[in-house]
Amino acid sequence: MANNVRPATMERITTQALANAFIAEQISSIRAQVGKEKVLLALSGGVDSSVVAALLMKAIGRQLVCVHVNHGLMRKGESEQVIEVFGKELGANLIYIDATDRFLDLLAGVAEPEKKRKIIGNEFIKVFDEEAAKLKGISFLAQGTIYPDILESKGVKAHHNVGGLPEDMQMELVEPVRLLYKDEVRVVGDALGLPHSMVYRQPFPGPGLGVRCLGAITRERLHALREADAILREEFDRCSLAEKVWQYFIAVPDFKSVGVRDGKRYEGWSAIIRAVNTTDAMTATIEEIPYEVLHRITARITAEVEGINRVLMDLTPKPVGTIEME
Ligand code: XMP
Repeated sequence: MANNVRPATMERITTQALANAFIAEQISSIRAQVGKEKVLLALSGGVDSSVVAALLMKAIGRQLVCVHVNHGLMRKGESEQVIEVFGKELGANLIYIDATDRFLDLLAGVAEPEKKRKIIGNEFIKVFDEEAAKLKGISFLAQGTIYPDILESKGVKAHHNVGGLPEDMQMELVEPVRLLYKDEVRVVGDALGLPHSMVYRQPFPGPGLGVRCLGAITRERLHALREADAILREEFDRCSLAEKVWQYFIAVPDFKSVGVRDGKRYEGWSAIIRAVNTTDAMTATIEEIPYEVLHRITARITAEVEGINRVLMDLTPKPVGTIEME
């Protein structure tokens, strides 16, 4: 059983030198754990799994097989970017699986947040098990689990990469950044030479838009959420808020309100903006967004996204609100 408790004496990784020491240590422990075996990595394209991919490539090279599962809950353009960056630019051993229908069919009608998380987590593992069986001789599964995932899985949320593993899972876990906080993972990513845009990309939860399409997911509402979220990201990029705000996204609840468009009654969903700052995701504060930016985002979302007729903003810090709304 891997050690999942961060020693009190472990120094916070804040410099390139500390990151290099961590990398060297991990390279030898990964090699010792894995030997000549192959490792399957769930590459979501987020900071954590990207850093783990780079670390594993350094440690074991072509023994690493990256699998990107598109669970249909990715942000707009995200799977395409994973293929572009890892498959084409970095030349990784990458397998792409579009499992959208599989996930969305299982999730149909399921409203309870923890149940949704468990379904997504379990299905993820199933897809990987199936892939491993096809590939033959893969005995390890690498994951980008970080320390807050471990801490919070002890009771608050069943984060899929900790809480959702089935009892009979046949692969041993390789989780080289499991004792690190997010800010440390980024310092390690920098030291590994990953592109800045990848290392400083905002975190994205494993269950993806699944926990932002609140309640029972429908394809229509998921589509509206994805489009609205893309507009928010575009506008944050445009006014440099993207570099300043730790995590920002849209959530779409499963109720409609009455509105008016082109002189006619127009019932639609609300898009809720959430923009928070934090260092370790254990607590979070609210970023102040200039009204001018909020007005522009509102105008664009209500004009461009079919099905949305209001834009709201969540001003709740953590605690008492968690960062995600589910
Ligand atoms: P919360 O909502 O718990 O989120 O305040 C803290 C951080 O964790 C992310 N998060 C998740 N990450 N699986 C993940 O991999 C999950 O189920 C999950 N839920 C929340 C969240 O986006 C935030 O960065």
